[in-house]
Amino acid sequence: MAKIEKIMLQSTTGFTVEVLNLGGIITKIMALDKYGSRSNVVLNYENLDDYHTNSLFLGCFVGPVAGRTKDGKLPIDGKIHQLDVSLHPNSLHSCKDGLHNVFWEIEDQTTDRLVLSCETKDDNCTINYKLTYTVSNDILNISNDASSTSKTYLTLTNHSYFNLSGNLEQTVKEHELKLNCSHFVRLDQESLPVELVPIKDSPVDFSIHQILGEAIESNAIDIRNASGIDHPFKCESQNPVAILKEATTGRIMKVSTTQPYVIVYSGNFLHSAISESGKILNRFSGICFETQDLPNVINNKLDKVVFVTPEAPYSHQTSFSFSTL
Ligand code: GLA
Repeated sequence: MAKIEKIMLQSTTGFTVEVLNLGGIITKIMALDKYGSRSNVVLNYENLDDYHTNSLFLGCFVGPVAGRTKDGKLPIDGKIHQLDVSLHPNSLHSCKDGLHNVFWEIEDQTTDRLVLSCETKDDNCTINYKLTYTVSNDILNISNDASSTSKTYLTLTNHSYFNLSGNLEQTVKEHELKLNCSHFVRLDQESLPVELVPIKDSPVDFSIHQILGEAIESNAIDIRNASGIDHPFKCESQNPVAILKEATTGRIMKVSTTQPYVIVYSGNFLHSAISESGKILNRFSGICFETQDLPNVINNKLDKVVFVTPEAPYSHQTSFSFSTL
């Protein structure tokens, strides 16, 4: 088996990000606090071998189809392509067909840029993926690119859990979130999207800064069904799409993306994993911003479905920008 390699990227401001060749996994993002010291603001495992299974999808690249796909079925031009459904009644992040725990080739590496690549082949097509991480100032930019030999459907994301306090003994409930989105998506009992509704006056009304705990602890049915926040929000043209703040350290993170949706997931099912610092991860220890298509859009048609073809390759960028209050 290939060996897990850690690759460290550094910008001229001293901002560092650590990535693994396994699953393109981000294990460290060292962000400044208001006192001028840097701490890791993403969750990671103490034992690198845990990344071979990584059922929590800590920090990894997710694809070829991120999110939940009803029965794992992808209808493309009248033919059904079947994704693995072994973890779920539906396919979650492509299950065993996912690229989150495969080894990627290091195609290019400089101080501030890393390019990973990976090729998959099936009866339908050959897909070449390119994953580029770039750091500049205190910004991490991730570019997800893929080309395919025939028509297919892809939606790719990163699954980092952020905790801006840098202290895993604290949950993210005291973090404040603002979203530049006017609609979110209601989910059914299987966490599949049902309908787009305005966020205004909803339990996830992050149109102004709101303390996450207030939403997480709400008794609203949308929150109870998902055991917390785990909802897609529609990205309009306005970036940053999300602004997360943590008052005690003064850290601010802004998420910008070219993707049409961001799934905000408050770590509702984080449990008993041991982080690198030896701390146990608990529910709500971290929050994910999964920028991607609306989950299951290929079946629910609640929004436009964009296919990848040899003429129209896949290319999306998401950045995480850090500053202080
Ligand atoms: C995955 C998804 C999250 C959330 C969890 C629930 O990690 O990416 O959005 O639905 O599953 O376990």
